[in-house]
Amino acid sequence: MNSSYTLRQFQPDDIKWVVSINQRCLPENYPEQFFLGLHYHAPKAFFVAEYKDEIIGYIMCRIERGISGFGRLPAKKGHIVSVAVLQTLRCMGIGSALITAGMKGMRDYGATEFFLEVRKSNEEAVVVYEKLEYTVRRVLRGYYRDGEDAYLMVKKGDDTTEEGPIDE
Ligand SMILES: CC(C)(COP(=O)(O)OP(=O)(O)OC[C@H]1O[C@@H](n2cnc3c(N)ncnc32)[C@H](O)[C@@H]1OP(=O)(O)O)[C@@H](O)C(=O)NCCC(=O)NCCS
Repeated sequence: MNSSYTLRQFQPDDIKWVVSINQRCLPENYPEQFFLGLHYHAPKAFFVAEYKDEIIGYIMCRIERGISGFGRLPAKKGHIVSVAVLQTLRCMGIGSALITAGMKGMRDYGATEFFLEVRKSNEEAVVVYEKLEYTVRRVLRGYYRDGEDAYLMVKKGDDTTEEGPIDE
C-alpha cells in the first residue's frame, strides 16, 4: 500500500468528515458545534490527516489553565481532547504524527505540558501515547458514561522541570 499521507490544519469545511471519523472510531461523540468551538479557540492545534485526497484522521486539542502536574505553579496545559485514525490506515505512523503536530500547535499557544484521558481497555492508544513518552499519572474511576475507568496520561513539555507526581 502506498503509505503517503499529509497533515494540514483543520478547516470548518472539513467538519462532516471529522464528525464521521469520530463516530466510526470512538464511543465519545460530539455535536459539530463542539468541534467548531475547539477549532475557534485553538485553530493551530486542530489537524486533519489526508490520504488519497480524503480525510482519514484528526486531532483536536484545548488549552487549559491550571496547576501544573509537574510542580505547584500555574501552567498552561495542552489537553488532547480527541484523536482518531480510520481503522484500515492505522499503524502507519499517522496517529503519532497527528499527536506530535497537535502538541506543537499547543506549544505555540504556550502549553508547557500535555495530558489526556484514555479508556483503560484501549491498549492500542495507550501504546501509542507511551511511545510518545506519555506516562499514566492516575486512574480516573468511572470517568466514562458507561462506567469504565480512564487513565490520565501526562507528558512534560521540553522546557518544564519535573518535580515528581503530586496528585496521587
Ligand atoms: C490511537 C490511534 C489514533 C493511533 O493511530 P495509529 O495511526 O495507528 O498510530 P501509529 O501508527 O502512529 O502508532 C504508533 C505506534 O504504536 C504502535 N501501535 C499502534 N497500534 C498498536 C497496537 N494495536 N498494538 C501494539 N502497538 C501498536 C505502532 O506500531 C507504532 O509504533 P512504531 O512507530 O514503533 O511502529 C488509533 O489507534 C485510533 O484511531 N484508535 C481509535 C480512536 C482512539 O482510541 N483514540 C484515542 C482515544 S484517547
